[in-house]
Amino acid sequence: MHKPSTNTRFAILASGRGSNAQALMKAFERGFFPAELALVLSNKPKAGVLQIAQEYGYPAICLPHENISRQDHEEQILTHLKQAHVDHILLAGYMRILSPNFLLRFKSQSNGHILNIHPSLLPDFPGLHAVERQHASARPIAGATVHFVTDQVDSGPVILQGSIELRGDENVEELKHRIRKEVEHVIYPRALRLFLDRIANPTHQEVR
Ligand code: GRF
Repeated sequence: MHKPSTNTRFAILASGRGSNAQALMKAFERGFFPAELALVLSNKPKAGVLQIAQEYGYPAICLPHENISRQDHEEQILTHLKQAHVDHILLAGYMRILSPNFLLRFKSQSNGHILNIHPSLLPDFPGLHAVERQHASARPIAGATVHFVTDQVDSGPVILQGSIELRGDENVEELKHRIRKEVEHVIYPRALRLFLDRIANPTHQEVR
């Protein structure tokens, strides 16, 4: 695993509102992690996450993906990650699939991991519209998952999950709100702590 360090550096990649990014920023700010948030990166100029990063005083940049090939866009991201000496990436509502080439390049560049949060109890409901599908299902439990990113979408090893009981009287938007507030904003910081604890105290079976 990665060397134990108090200077492990993270980047958050997000495309939208940024409520999960904000939960992570709050935790970074109060010293919950023996690590630094080095960069916040978005592909959407109007993403709320850029404003939030500015309010918290974290370096933030936007790299729009329109009018540029996927490969060139990912190359730009890799360059900024390198310049910021980023070890690991936290995806928080980043609405672009990272190509297998990016995953390989990032691995060779930083030997780092990429974590993601998904609004369902994986392996159930991977992909888009996960909350809508949970809401429409007959299942009594909904939730969210923090997992490692692999080249298979929403399929990497799970770090932490959290669940809530569905209420018969809530609409999809209310359920989305509860999953974010009651589950995602709680489990993402905890999952990151677990990840950092594991980096600092690898078991002897773990080989990187
Ligand atoms: C979250 O539901 C997350 O699980 C998914 O995208 C959403 C991002 O929401 N990957 P926010 O921008 O963090 O509020």
